[in-house]
Amino acid sequence: MANRKIVLLGTGGTIAGTSSGSGNAFGYTAGQVSVEGLVASVPLLPRVLAGRTLVVEQVAQVDSKDMDDALWRALALRCAHWLAQDDVDGLVITHGTDTLEETAYFLHALLAPAKPVVLTCAMRPADALSADGPQNLLDAVVVACDAAARGVSVVCAGVVHGAEAVQKIHTWRLDAFDSGDAGPLAQVARATVFWARNPAPALARYGESAINSIANLSIWPRVEILASHAGARADTVRALVRDGVQGLIVAATGNGTLHHALEPALLEAQAAGVQVWRATRCANGGVLPGEASPFPDAGALSPVKARIALQLQLAAVQQVS
Ligand code: SIN
Repeated sequence: MANRKIVLLGTGGTIAGTSSGSGNAFGYTAGQVSVEGLVASVPLLPRVLAGRTLVVEQVAQVDSKDMDDALWRALALRCAHWLAQDDVDGLVITHGTDTLEETAYFLHALLAPAKPVVLTCAMRPADALSADGPQNLLDAVVVACDAAARGVSVVCAGVVHGAEAVQKIHTWRLDAFDSGDAGPLAQVARATVFWARNPAPALARYGESAINSIANLSIWPRVEILASHAGARADTVRALVRDGVQGLIVAATGNGTLHHALEPALLEAQAAGVQVWRATRCANGGVLPGEASPFPDAGALSPVKARIALQLQLAAVQQVS
């Protein structure tokens, strides 16, 4: 594997977090330890790299709750740059858990990479009594080096999840992620990947020019999420439309149903040119096709991922027009 590379991009998160000196797993600050510092905490890395060089780059140092369009653009451009290098076998990205599934889906939908892009994280800060970050980082590098790996995945607590299915489902457990009905792609143990199924080839959803659209747009299309819930009010929709929203994802009840108070305002929004999609508030099942509705459904995508899909779709159209 001489002259081959794995590239590690650091963006912050709890995996790079430190507490106030007490080794406390709570009450810490995310995004403190450099990506070089994370590598230093995993002495086994050279063994799993099997002769490959690990190139490290600090793209950002944030708490991922604060993820935004500018940082996503910077990360996507660095990923596109490294994925285009013939001597790069795969990428690993360290990231906070809070918006990990969004970044994973964003990169998946935008780049549809053939090579592995493996996001990893931690639920305990780097200086916790038993930090989970070093093992997760090692496992992520193992996946990035695996010959069968391709596309964007998430590695946490020994489990490999696909970008479309993965969701954070727990606020403090170390295995905080789940793939719902789809199930995990693989498990990692003893520096070996045990595949449950073949990672599906990524689909180039937005065409080759999508990355250029994102690189060139100074302001991305505004897409907001609102929930259909008991006591929902049409005023919320009308206020967003007045404020210039271009797309609305309704986190709908059950199989994509909407509170009757929202429907007229959503129809007005649609007539005014706002794209309105229905996703479901339920963690599993998605919205099954077949129900008659004036509003398209987001299928199996969660509301936060449907928001990204609609944003990328609007960005592609905006770039062409
Ligand atoms: C973050 O998302 O950056 C903080 C929380 C975490 O990584 O678990």
